[in-house]
Amino acid sequence: MSFSIGPWQIARAAVLAPMAGVTDRPFRILCRQLGAGLAASEMITADQQLWQSRKSRQRMNHEGEPEPRVVQLAGNDPAQLAEAARVNADLGAQIIDINMGCPAKKVYGKLCGSALLGDEALVGRILDAVVRGSPVPVTVKIRTGIDRAHINAPRISRIAAEAGVRAIAVHGRTRADFYEGEAEYETLREVCAAAGIPVIANGDIDSAVKARAVLDSTGANAVMLGRAAHGTPWIFRDVNAFLENGRLPPPLLRSEIRDIILGHLEALYVFHGETHGVRIARKHLGWYCQQHSQTASFRPALMAAESSSAQFALAAQCFGQWVRHENNKIRVVEQADGADEKRCGRESHAQEAHPG
Ligand SMILES: Cc1cc2nc3c(=O)[nH]c(=O)nc-3n(C[C@H](O)[C@H](O)[C@H](O)COP(=O)(O)O)c2cc1C
Repeated sequence: MSFSIGPWQIARAAVLAPMAGVTDRPFRILCRQLGAGLAASEMITADQQLWQSRKSRQRMNHEGEPEPRVVQLAGNDPAQLAEAARVNADLGAQIIDINMGCPAKKVYGKLCGSALLGDEALVGRILDAVVRGSPVPVTVKIRTGIDRAHINAPRISRIAAEAGVRAIAVHGRTRADFYEGEAEYETLREVCAAAGIPVIANGDIDSAVKARAVLDSTGANAVMLGRAAHGTPWIFRDVNAFLENGRLPPPLLRSEIRDIILGHLEALYVFHGETHGVRIARKHLGWYCQQHSQTASFRPALMAAESSSAQFALAAQCFGQWVRHENNKIRVVEQADGADEKRCGRESHAQEAHPG
């Protein structure tokens, strides 16, 4: 399954959702390596006066990131957003995504993010200006509407297509829903029928089977996963394999998962530096431990570690022990069942280890 965004052919239909505080460069690269078709940056304000902060500079750093690199912009001023798109393209963005979905008070209160859905004329002016000003393709990410009495995603999708936007991602909740209740996909189906541009379905997609079901019921071209990738970046490997050939790939071994986690930690320390790296790694380690109950006893120490060396050593010990636990079980299976059973035993335990 593939889809296109302007000249870019995206080979894999499961993509990573932009998440402030999560989808930094190390996590984007990791998810791309594990199969995500795209991985958008955390949102960057269009207000260039705020670009001097460490946070903004980090968000615009794309070194080593696979193509196409997607940068998400937040704002409400057409000219400012268009200029920010142009500058970010100069800095390496190859697709510009406009945030019209964020419900957070900090963003909504400034009439940005999902607040824009309440002003369709402004949506049109913004998208016209950004498409005209941007040397690279433009996409937009929206919710279904401001609230359930004002569902307008199908109309917004037509406005976007008329402006020349190349794809639209839709989260199946309204702004008023925030993250409550369940995402609905009926509106997404209407968007797919109305838009005339590729549609990326988003909201509560947390397994390969659900991804297939959402694509089938909506007619969307791709799925976008956010929270389901917390602690399980390898979910893209499963979802994409299932979408491509209807089967899950062989599960990762625990030793492979351990290596992914330790590699992720190292990348965080290098990218964010000692203090921020340790702090951000805590969040990911919490998610990784949540997936594997046998690592729970290490969690308090992992959260308390204050240096990268202490945190890394503890993580290596924690996930090393978790791998050895699997190996011991394999040996028991081998002794009981003989060498022919070895692979079966290994796979059944790896399956148990595999959270996807
Ligand atoms: C921690 C967090 C940060 C987010 N930040 C952004 C953001 O910067 N831009 C954006 O468009 N959406 C943001 N979102 C929304 C997600 O992209 C996505 O639409 C939402 O989580 C629903 O998808 P999911 O159910 O797969 O998580 C964020 C969500 C979370 C949980």
